[in-house]
Amino acid sequence: GAVDKGEYRHFMIKEIFDQPTALANTLEGRINGGRVLEACLGPRAAELLARVKRVRLVACGTSAHAGLVAQYWIEQIAKLPCRIELASEFRYRDPVIEPDTLFISISQSGETADTLEALRHAKTKQLAASLVICNAPESSLVRESDIALMTHAGPERSVASTKAFTTQLMALALVMLLLARRNGLSEDQERRYVKSLEAAARQVDEVLKEDAVLQRLAERLIAKEHALFLGRGPMWPVAMEGALKLKEISYIHAEAYAAGELKHGPLALVDEHMPVIAVAPDGHLLEKVKSNLQEVKARGGELYVFADREAGFKSEPGVTVIGMPHADELTDPIVYTVPLQLLAYHVAVLKGTDVDQPRNLAKSVTVE
Ligand code: G6P
Repeated sequence: GAVDKGEYRHFMIKEIFDQPTALANTLEGRINGGRVLEACLGPRAAELLARVKRVRLVACGTSAHAGLVAQYWIEQIAKLPCRIELASEFRYRDPVIEPDTLFISISQSGETADTLEALRHAKTKQLAASLVICNAPESSLVRESDIALMTHAGPERSVASTKAFTTQLMALALVMLLLARRNGLSEDQERRYVKSLEAAARQVDEVLKEDAVLQRLAERLIAKEHALFLGRGPMWPVAMEGALKLKEISYIHAEAYAAGELKHGPLALVDEHMPVIAVAPDGHLLEKVKSNLQEVKARGGELYVFADREAGFKSEPGVTVIGMPHADELTDPIVYTVPLQLLAYHVAVLKGTDVDQPRNLAKSVTVE
C-alpha cells in the first residue's frame, strides 16, 4: 500500500503520533447529540442487542489487553457479566456459553488464526450475536461475524501495535455504552461518558507533547535487564500493554502485576536494579496504588510513576513522577497507554533494535 513513514524514522513512532487523529476517526459519525448511535452496529443492532444478557470476549496479544480493559468497563458500567479469554485457550476448550451471550472478538488484522478459530468454535453454540472489533475491512473475522465495528485506525505497519490498541479501546467503549444504555445507564450519564471519549484525542495529543520527557526517561532504562509494571483495575491491562511493548521491541524482560499482588511475590525482586513503572491515574484506586508504591520505595526500588498532575505525587530521590493530563476514569486506559508506548519506543531506538520488525515476531499470526 501507499503508506510511508513521512517525516518519521519508524512506522511505530508515526503510528503513535497518528493516535489523536485515529481516535477521532473511531468516533466519527458514531456520535449524535452527545449520544452513541446504535446504527454504528449496523441495521440489525437493535434486534440483536435486545437479546444480550452477558458478554464473552476473545483476542490475542495486544488486542487481548483491550479486551481486559473492556471487561472492567462492561461489568462496572453496563452491569453485564463479562469474561475475556485468550483465543488460543478458548478454541481448545469446551466452553459453556449461554444463548444470550454477545460474543466479541477483537483483532487488528481480522486474520489471527486463533481468534478466527475461537469465533468459529463459539458459533457452534447458540449466541445472541457475534461482534468483531477490527481494523481490516473484508477480513475473515469481519466476514464471519454478525456485526463488525471498524476501528478506522488506518494501516498499522509496526509489528508492535499502538494506534490499533487505543482505537480498539475507543470502539469497545462505544459498544459498552450501547449495552449500558439498555441496562439502566441514564441519558445524562451516557452524555458524560461520550464527552470524555471525545476529550481523549486531545489528552493523547497533550501526552505526545511530552515525548522528550519519555526520551530522557528511556536513557535510564536501557541498561536494565528487567522491569516491573504495576496498575490496578482497568489500569492493570494498561501495565500489561506497557510491559509487552517494552519486551517486544527492546528485548528487556518486563512483567506486569496487579499492584495488589505485589506482596505475593514480585516484591522479592525489588531492589535498585529493578525499575518499577506504575500507572496511577486519579481514580478511585489512587490511595491503594500509593500505598503499593510506598512498599516499593521502602525496598530501595527505583520508581517511575505516571500520575495525574493534580494527584499530589511528587518526585523525590528514587521516585520519578511523570505528570499526566487529567482524564476521565473511563478514558485513563487510552491516555496512559501512550507514554508507555513512547517509553518502549525510545528504549528500543537507543538500544538499536529493529523497532518496526522485532526479531521472531510477525505482524499477523495467520497460522498456528
Ligand atoms: C501479533 C502481533 C501483535 C498483535 C497480535 C494479535 O502477535 O505482533 O501486535 O496484537 O498478533 O493480532 P490481531 O491482528 O488479531 O490484533
